[in-house]
Amino acid sequence: MNPGRELRSARWFGTVDISGFAHRTTLTPIGLSPEHFDGRPFIGIAQSWSDFAPCNVHFRQIAEHLKRGVAEAGGVAMEFPTISLGENLAKPTAMMFRNLMAMDVEESIRMYPMDAVVLLGGCDKTLPAQLMGAASVDLPTVVVTAGPTSPRSYGGRELGGGTDVWKLAERVRADTADRAEVGGLEAAIMSTPGHCAEMGSASTITALSEALGLALPGSATVPAMDGRRLAGAARAGRLAVELALAGGPTPAALLTREAFENAITLLMALGGSTNAIVHLLALAGRVGVPLTLDDFAAVSARTPLLANLRPSGEFLVQDLDAAGGVPAVLKELAPLLHTGVPTVTGRTLGEEIESAAVLDREVIAPLSRPRGRTGGLAVVRGSLAPDGAVIKTSAARADLLTHRGRAVVFEDVRDLAARIDDPALDVDESSVLVLRNSGPKGGPGMPEWGMLPIPVKLLAQGVTDMVRISDARMSGTAFGTVVLHVAPESAVGGPLALARDGDVVSLDVPNGRLDLEVAPEELERRRRESAPRAPRYRRGYKALFVRHVRQADTGCDFDFLRGRPDEGSDNVPD
Ligand code: FES
Repeated sequence: MNPGRELRSARWFGTVDISGFAHRTTLTPIGLSPEHFDGRPFIGIAQSWSDFAPCNVHFRQIAEHLKRGVAEAGGVAMEFPTISLGENLAKPTAMMFRNLMAMDVEESIRMYPMDAVVLLGGCDKTLPAQLMGAASVDLPTVVVTAGPTSPRSYGGRELGGGTDVWKLAERVRADTADRAEVGGLEAAIMSTPGHCAEMGSASTITALSEALGLALPGSATVPAMDGRRLAGAARAGRLAVELALAGGPTPAALLTREAFENAITLLMALGGSTNAIVHLLALAGRVGVPLTLDDFAAVSARTPLLANLRPSGEFLVQDLDAAGGVPAVLKELAPLLHTGVPTVTGRTLGEEIESAAVLDREVIAPLSRPRGRTGGLAVVRGSLAPDGAVIKTSAARADLLTHRGRAVVFEDVRDLAARIDDPALDVDESSVLVLRNSGPKGGPGMPEWGMLPIPVKLLAQGVTDMVRISDARMSGTAFGTVVLHVAPESAVGGPLALARDGDVVSLDVPNGRLDLEVAPEELERRRRESAPRAPRYRRGYKALFVRHVRQADTGCDFDFLRGRPDEGSDNVPD
């Protein structure tokens, strides 16, 4: 095979010296022989399979079909493992390890002989980590995702996964769920491989990877156990060989400002996860595209909510797939998109969605009659969040989006657990629950603690939502009037650290405001009296994380990982 240009892998295998000899013979044990080193492209497959991440547990089977596609196109597939992040099992929070996985992916791609890479990612943090790592190396990259789990029904309702767990958790706390029901749900709620079936964080990021031009159109919503996913994997393998031979397009060519705006437009129309904001900000930081929370606010203001998907609506990702998938949503959004941007297929986004059509108007509303006038996410700023905070408006109670109430402040998650259900807690449904020390450095890792539980005594009164504010994140499958990602966080001296019980907090989402109605002089006095908390971790990765993680409004990446690699140096093997 003659690609007409020197492949990166030829620097390992193409020399006739002892170095080339050693590199070639090293691969004899995996079954390669001299003909495999005739100039064929080597395609890396970044594998995030793990028994600890059941969302990704079918990736070994998908990798086999990817390899088939690579071989069909004349390439050599090289599968390599990376860290995998199982959202529900990784403690203290999978988010703490997103940057570690991004470093693993980046350096694995860079250190080994590959000409293109396929990313196998699904569960919440795996794909963002892979995108960040691959973008920093900038070899031709194709994304293959896990697909949603196939939901089972229980009690006549199809279960989503995360959203139903959250709902059950509240009923268990209120003592309105019996043991048989809890047992039945435990067995049913996550019954097959694949990521959560609602428009949670995983479904959001996988959908956005199509809008960013990195995944094959229509691939994100295909259920995990559907044979189309295997055929798609083979197609992705063939495409990776073509990209390797052509030398691109690489992520740098695809991840433009316009592509990010397209992804944010899709995010808003889907009512997607707040976590996507953090990940897109981090990814933009890797490729040097200026992106801020204001960009999300601006896109949200001009983008209607179209999708009727849990946790904001009724349906699941498999229903979105049956309704035409991401291409159908993008087709509907076309007047709001940059349709001329390139995609990994070599065609423009506009060309890719040309033949798409919406097949179910209950799932994807028309642009002319949307489910919501503006996007599903909003950004607020003010004296309580000078650098911004976010709220998933599509999953909030509309009348609470403008609200004033007395703060009930929890120092940290342990304080929250100890007092939230105390019958003596001075709280009513108009109160604003505030949680601090839950941000990137304070959590640390910005855990998904933001959907603070409703006090049991209020649940018993039938209260189902309250305004809740924190510097934490929340699961993409969670819901409620929940203000998240307050920046700067309390652990670095943000105003959240100065709030006290009884302070009046004002939330005004229509006007983009979040304020602590306390005089600046009083806040200054409190600041002088406050003392920083001692760091929880003093050694290892966690200490490095706390030292280098940036704030939520810039994506929580490490300060030393932002920006493009040093020109011409990082990607060349020694
Ligand atoms: Fe993996 Fe929800 S737990 S996507």
